[in-house]
Amino acid sequence: MPVGGFVVGDGQKAYPGKLTPFVLFTCVVAAMGGLIFGYDIGISGGVTSMPSFLRRFFPSVYRKQQEDATTNQYCQYDSPTLTLFTSSLYLAALVSSLVASTVTRKFGRRLSMLFGGILFCAGALINGFAKHVWMLIVGRILLGFGIGFANQSVPLYLSEMAPYKYRGALNIGFQLSITIGILVAEVLNYFFAKIKGGWGWRLSLGGAVVPALIITLGSLVLPDTPNSMIERGQHEEAKTKLRRIRGVDDVSQEFDDLVAASKESQSIEHPWTNLLRRKYRPHLTMAIMIPFFQQLTGINVIMFYAPVLFNTIGFTTDASLMSAVVTGSVNVAATLVSIYGVDKWGRRFLFLEGGTQMLICQAVVAACIGAKFGVDGTPGELPKWYAIVVVTFICIYVAGFAWSWGPLGWLVPSEIFPLEIRSAAQSITVSVNMIFTFIIAQIFLTMLCHLKFGLFLVFAFFVVVMSIFVYIFLPETKGIPIEEMGQVWRSHWYWSRFVEDGEYGNGLEMGKSSNQGTKRV
Ligand code: BGC
Repeated sequence: MPVGGFVVGDGQKAYPGKLTPFVLFTCVVAAMGGLIFGYDIGISGGVTSMPSFLRRFFPSVYRKQQEDATTNQYCQYDSPTLTLFTSSLYLAALVSSLVASTVTRKFGRRLSMLFGGILFCAGALINGFAKHVWMLIVGRILLGFGIGFANQSVPLYLSEMAPYKYRGALNIGFQLSITIGILVAEVLNYFFAKIKGGWGWRLSLGGAVVPALIITLGSLVLPDTPNSMIERGQHEEAKTKLRRIRGVDDVSQEFDDLVAASKESQSIEHPWTNLLRRKYRPHLTMAIMIPFFQQLTGINVIMFYAPVLFNTIGFTTDASLMSAVVTGSVNVAATLVSIYGVDKWGRRFLFLEGGTQMLICQAVVAACIGAKFGVDGTPGELPKWYAIVVVTFICIYVAGFAWSWGPLGWLVPSEIFPLEIRSAAQSITVSVNMIFTFIIAQIFLTMLCHLKFGLFLVFAFFVVVMSIFVYIFLPETKGIPIEEMGQVWRSHWYWSRFVEDGEYGNGLEMGKSSNQGTKRV
């Protein structure tokens, strides 16, 4: 397949174009997609530790919480309906991201974003005005549908709009906005919990309407991506749009590549069965294992339940929410470190360093909680130094995640798939992520009740397994153009047996060199 485009000295493809204000605007909208996801992750833990919210919707949990501290603290939040409140969203998101992949492909990215925004607004309003538990759950499900649509379409929209030189940074930018969303939710929870009359939870839940409205309005004014227009046969409009986006007149190279790529991917009849071919074994393995491991770090135990967890280990409601704000800030700051370092130090270094850091912290937290609560869950008096040690190690753990598995859990899958399987493989990554987010959210409180401090050791075990997996099986992808990625598998001691020379990508691996610097592209 002769693909247009030209090659610069370092062997990478280059298209003319700059970071126009137009493109920047699209990035802001994408950021909103991350914010609504993050806001939801951060908000539920806070409201479920507000006594007025529990008293109204989950009276049995409230009663257990009010019993004196000599009873088993590990089990005070163990309620199936309370867990369903948190986790229903992820199941809904999983279902809708599958639906969204068709909407996004057939009707454009913009429509999916619009659906996402509208569903999200509806969910936020129902939650904010909730009078019964079922309203809470229905609201969460609508939010989940919204997230499924938004998370499926926004990153895609962003990648297609972004000039190729800025795509990597923008990818972690999406994760950064997730962390900002989590933090904003935690800060709001902290203040809303103080509102007299105990109705602050309505503001926390209803507040999701703000980022939702922004993405709804944003998607109304944004154009669709040129890629999506071409996919739907609107070639002339796509070319005009591409000129506007890139801020240059000569976009024919890039345009021809987009047309060629779209033709190739349309010629693949069954992208899903295609994925099962032997040569895609390494990609399929990573598409499944990376999001699986990301969730098995146990990060969402902290993200969803930080205030509940701090409450369980003896903090007052106020101190619990404040500690969650602290961990949320660490999460944002450490993501910036990863934006800075990911192309300097490489993915493998960050994965392994982050893994070691998380492992040490999990062991310390398990030891602290075990020492104080024992197996019967009765702490007695908790000294201040103890609280400081636990919060400090939880923060170091969050930092470790936020510069490794957090952003890389999304970045690495998105950069290793060849074009012909990229979209299908990416859907697998998103689905696996949502399934395990759901499972962890669903069983954490029960696990805390039964495994007690041992729960942290379970996650620690998985961190060891995932670090060994990365060490042995994940090749370094730093500084390698996506189109050249085939080489990392061909030169890998294990994966090379699946991927043979020249077999790759049916010629789709654009820019394969015949000699250094001059490529047939
Ligand atoms: C994960 C989420 C997690 C968040 C925390 C994301 O990469 O997919 O599950 O809550 O990071 O910052």
